[in-house]
Amino acid sequence: MGYNILSKVIELTDSNEKLAERLKGVALELNAHLPFDDSSIYLWNHKEKTFTLSAAAGSSTERKHFYSKGEGLPAEVRKKRRTIDRESTDLDPMKISALEKTELDNFRYAKLYPLISNDLFYGVLYLKAIKKPRLSPRREEMLTVIAKQLSASIQCETNYTRLKRMHREREKLRERLVHAEKIMALGELSATLAHEIRTPLVNIGGFTARLKKELGENTCAKYVDRMSTEVTRLENIINNILSVADEHKLDLKAHSLDSLTAEPIEIFKDSCASHNITVRTEQLTDPAPLVMADIDQIKIAFDNIIANAIQSMDKGGQLTVSSQREGEFAVITISDSGGGIPPELMGDIFNPFFTTKERGTGLGLTITHKIITRHGGWITAKNNDTCGVSFTVGLRSINNHSAITK
Ligand SMILES: Nc1ncnc2c1ncn2[C@@H]1O[C@H](COP(=O)(O)OP(=O)(O)OP(=O)(O)O)[C@@H](O)[C@H]1O
Ligand SMILES: [Mg+2]
Repeated sequence: MGYNILSKVIELTDSNEKLAERLKGVALELNAHLPFDDSSIYLWNHKEKTFTLSAAAGSSTERKHFYSKGEGLPAEVRKKRRTIDRESTDLDPMKISALEKTELDNFRYAKLYPLISNDLFYGVLYLKAIKKPRLSPRREEMLTVIAKQLSASIQCETNYTRLKRMHREREKLRERLVHAEKIMALGELSATLAHEIRTPLVNIGGFTARLKKELGENTCAKYVDRMSTEVTRLENIINNILSVADEHKLDLKAHSLDSLTAEPIEIFKDSCASHNITVRTEQLTDPAPLVMADIDQIKIAFDNIIANAIQSMDKGGQLTVSSQREGEFAVITISDSGGGIPPELMGDIFNPFFTTKERGTGLGLTITHKIITRHGGWITAKNNDTCGVSFTVGLRSINNHSAITK
């Protein structure tokens, strides 16, 4: 042959390029040095049950990009799990003549090799020629070895991707664990502290109110006013800390997904109008997903998200609340256009006391996170295309529509 295709294919498949690039290199190589006029590699998608064209080289003008389940010669290869060619005697002649119109276009001959490694099917190597080529037994064997080499390479890539995904999931789990631990530590320490502080604080608040009354129009009244505002602020912080530590039993009832956000949206309506913020809701009906929720708690969770969104859009913008289904989860996304969160801070926003605001306590999202996870749900945040943040909350949906309470 004067040219060693096999070692070139091994070199290409073992390279550090992306899988698509490596397969493309192999297709070009085969097409340049074998007596075929067109070489394609189709990968089998186990989930969708389809073949997708991954790499190709050659003269075909109408190469198919996609084969659905059971369609064409690739499906025959998957069924038989062996090499077939246009002349294989066990192929249905009717099917072949139909294929000539749809699949083989002007090629008279085709040969397909299964890409199988460790008994797992990954796709097909599909070679076409205008005229049936003469292949020596050595070349036949070499093509089988090339298909095996391709399969092994695809399998490595699949395993590597799976390993990377598992590693990412483990990292996420670890982050969640660290977060849960932080909250527990915060819960134990600050709940005791908050408890001790609350009673004297309530007393100070009461005395301040009395003092204000006694002072009447006195010039010192403005200082008492300030005291009163600060005491209210401290009371809010204490209540927030206590609610992070709160472990009271949830009062779960079935609610339609959209009813969970309806009140928080209503509460912030005036605030949105005065900040020049337009509110858009895209709700799921027909039928609306149902979730089991402690409505008072869930409202607090959404209040915090919406309050942050409004605070981020002090010069106006758009608040969008939309709902959708994602498998067993009913999902609500709340998006703003308030500038987004710097990527380096994204990992901190759910941490207790993390705030970038002058008068923030950094407990809003901690409380929200805790409420959602206590419901068995999840919450994520990411910067969106409208220069803002999208918070997505997933709550397990139930199918019992008769249980609607709202
Ligand atoms: N929609 C948003 N746009 C931009 N930044 C946000 C948004 N939501 C949250 N953040 C960032 O996350 C931080 C934490 O939010 P969180 O609600 O926990 O605390 P806070 O709003 O600062 O204080 P508070 O306890 O009063 O709610 C914020 O300080 C802000 O930096
Ligand atoms: Mg907040």
